[in-house]
Amino acid sequence: MNYPDKVTVVEVGPRDGLQNEKSSLSAAQKATLVDKLSASGLPVIETGSFVSPRWVPQMANSDAVFSAITRQAGTRYTALTPNEKGLDAAIDAQVDEVAIFAAVTESFSRKNLNASIEETLQRFEPIMTRTRSLNMPVRGYLSCVLGCPYEGQVAPEAVSLLTRRLLDMGCHEVSLGDTIGTGTAGSTQRLLDTLLTDGIAVEHLAMHCHDTYGQALANLVIALQYGVATIDASIAGLGGCPYAKGATGNVATEDVIYLLDGLGIEHGVDLSQLLEAGRYIGQQLGRDSQSRAARALQAALDNPAT
Ligand code: HMG
Ligand code: MG
Repeated sequence: MNYPDKVTVVEVGPRDGLQNEKSSLSAAQKATLVDKLSASGLPVIETGSFVSPRWVPQMANSDAVFSAITRQAGTRYTALTPNEKGLDAAIDAQVDEVAIFAAVTESFSRKNLNASIEETLQRFEPIMTRTRSLNMPVRGYLSCVLGCPYEGQVAPEAVSLLTRRLLDMGCHEVSLGDTIGTGTAGSTQRLLDTLLTDGIAVEHLAMHCHDTYGQALANLVIALQYGVATIDASIAGLGGCPYAKGATGNVATEDVIYLLDGLGIEHGVDLSQLLEAGRYIGQQLGRDSQSRAARALQAALDNPAT
């Protein structure tokens, strides 16, 4: 079986994870989390989002978070921007990369961005023009690639068309979001088959799995076998989606690192530092980790074999 030699893990916990928490954390708490994640050597940390605070109040202090973090040389600090107003704020915060985000279904697009798919893509045009002149990389997200909470099944062909659109607009990669975690190894395989057959280069794809049905790691193994070498993950499995009721967290970063270690795939992340970041956020939220690997490794530390 062919696997990539090296995988880039994109940490989305401070954004995708914390945007879904009932209580908002302070900028200082979030910055401490980001600094601990940086200490683990993660190459990309999605640190916040510059969206309407009426829509996602949990992210309202993203500018203060960016001011408070200690940036490490090998790490890119990124943020979500839905429109030009968000881009202005992201530029002020000196982010290294921004992300635009669209949905594969009209219903989800309305709920998440209050606009049709076509309208959201048009809204992104000025973001692409301005980031191009600033030489700032842009990531594209697609939500609901393996199922929609409002429309059910999603055709891989629709995902393929929108992935192509985002790449043609200038995104350096497209993160394929299984927003509600209904994807399976089979549907992941059918999706990637379609995208690669349509000529989309695997180097431009990232996989973004939520673990609602416990399928995230299985789906990621399939994606790795197709050559996908960028994986989104969230510390301690934080997350969900405010516009996808019942969706649980993203696949846990600790679980992804454990998986990659087992396959001998290079990732550059120090698992013990990652566990420390997971312990910290668990204490702040008063909650156990959703990461099975973190829980097992912590139990082994707490009860060493005699
Ligand atoms: P709208 O209400 O249609 O837009 O929202 P508007 O332009 O009429 O603005 C309404 C108000 O928001 C105005 O304030 C604007 O100034 C303000 P008012 O004048 O009424 O006081 N506003 C902003 N404020 C701060 N920053 C901004 C901004 N833009 C407008 N950037 C809008 C449209 C797109 C803004 C809104 O729907 C929005 O912010 N949506 C974001 C929703 C979101 O963040 N969802 C979660 C992220 S996506 C996700 O989690 C999925 C992903 O993880 C992949 C996966 O899991 O599958 C990526
Ligand atoms: Mg997500």
